[in-house]
Amino acid sequence: MSAPLLHRRAGEVVANRPLGAYRQLSVVLPALATPARPGQFVITPPARADQVLPRTWWVAGERTEPGFGTTLELVVPDPPGGSGALPAPGDELLLTGPVGRGFGLPTTPVTAVVATQGAAGAAGRWLCERLRTVGCAVHLVSCADEPEQHVDLVLARRSADGVILTEPAGAEAALTSLTERVHPSVLYAVGPLSLSRTVAEVAAGTGAVSQVSGVDIGADGLCGHGLCGACDLPLHESAGSGSTVRPCAEGPVLRGGLVDWEAAQ
Ligand code: FES
Repeated sequence: MSAPLLHRRAGEVVANRPLGAYRQLSVVLPALATPARPGQFVITPPARADQVLPRTWWVAGERTEPGFGTTLELVVPDPPGGSGALPAPGDELLLTGPVGRGFGLPTTPVTAVVATQGAAGAAGRWLCERLRTVGCAVHLVSCADEPEQHVDLVLARRSADGVILTEPAGAEAALTSLTERVHPSVLYAVGPLSLSRTVAEVAAGTGAVSQVSGVDIGADGLCGHGLCGACDLPLHESAGSGSTVRPCAEGPVLRGGLVDWEAAQ
């Protein structure tokens, strides 16, 4: 497959503020021609000169104002060395994106479940807000190892009709119980592949459709440009023997039922 042609642009960081266990960066760019969508990400240069691979960050919000430009909200883990590893207000930030296929919204109001984990919680919350703008009832399942790692619960509770908190190991049980109670038509996963697999399997068990993130945005070892193959996932036989998908270039949002999750392990 050929990698998509991606253009890098310069933005200005106008804010870098704490958000619980995370940092929220606001970056102003020339106005985007097409609005950003939940499920898209940006690619930024590595944190240090001795690193080769770039960083990938979920887009957690976007606002475009005529004559001013586009402000992207990016929520990222607080880096181990302190926020100094992140750009400060006034810094230029070279970034590529927003990249990729975002989550699709239902054309009619339905009940939806959004599952998310870690820093992806901000993108998940943005997805909840978008689902509610099209009339959906939305239930958010937020997964985190530690209580403080749930992203901005005050805003999350305003963005969804119900919020369930769980540890990652409890995601399957929480999702199964929730789907039995609210009978969603669609389940979404914004987070690591382990969560995407769980959501896809729970959805398949209930006859609902699922849309899941197919690449661990924010993880180390990703090129994000469709070049290295590190993110390739196998598809079910029905897609053709040996078929794979390269989510950073062809997603990152995928139909959960298309991926052969057993073979992906
Ligand atoms: S991360 Fe390199 S091809 Fe997807």
